[in-house]
Amino acid sequence: MVFSLKERIGRRFDEEVRFFKGWQRDKKAVGAIIPTSSFTARRMASVINPGSGLPVLELGPGTGVITKAILGRGIKPENIVSVEYSKQFYDDLVARFPGVDFRNGDAFDLDGALGECRHRQFDSVICAVPMLSFPMERRVALLEDLLARIPEGRPVIQITYGPMSPVVAMPDRYKIAHYDFVVRNIPPAQLWVYTKTC
Ligand SMILES: C[S@@+](CC[C@H](N)C(=O)[O-])C[C@H]1O[C@@H](n2cnc3c(N)ncnc32)[C@H](O)[C@@H]1O
Repeated sequence: MVFSLKERIGRRFDEEVRFFKGWQRDKKAVGAIIPTSSFTARRMASVINPGSGLPVLELGPGTGVITKAILGRGIKPENIVSVEYSKQFYDDLVARFPGVDFRNGDAFDLDGALGECRHRQFDSVICAVPMLSFPMERRVALLEDLLARIPEGRPVIQITYGPMSPVVAMPDRYKIAHYDFVVRNIPPAQLWVYTKTC
């Protein structure tokens, strides 16, 4: 589908309004007042290996900017499993991205959110959950849960607005690499990649 410039601006504005309303409803869970930029979303989706044949797990899709970038990597909608905590965002996402397997649930209770597909292996995890809103023990537990769901060497990529990795280093358990500092994002965003230590 090709949209005119006016339509594109209108859609972007709608997205920003929806996001801002989400932020007003739950500031801590949403963690930002403006959606992730499409540039950042594409950087995050660049870690996906479309040739793996495995589904991609997305956490905290919000208004769907990153979902769109994942689809843009050639991943079929039915090969994206995406967990969103907010019922309002979830309802909008289901209407906007037919075929994507959205789950209205909590990333910190992934077995519960994934239900029957909790034993599935994923290619990689694209995570926009605002980690800094949660205590460090929960961040570490979430990261380790995610790493257990992807093959060795495959990444969990995390966006954050703080200067440092939002998950503390545990070199015997996982490796942390700085992936990018994206200035084309409001506010500028840091991207971190985590992989299991072999
Ligand atoms: C910073 S926003 C990013 C949204 C998205 N990148 C965008 O630009 O629209 C964080 C998202 O994570 C969701 N979220 C927060 N806590 C969550 C949790 N425990 N499980 C799943 N999603 C969560 C929020 O509802 C919100 O949609």
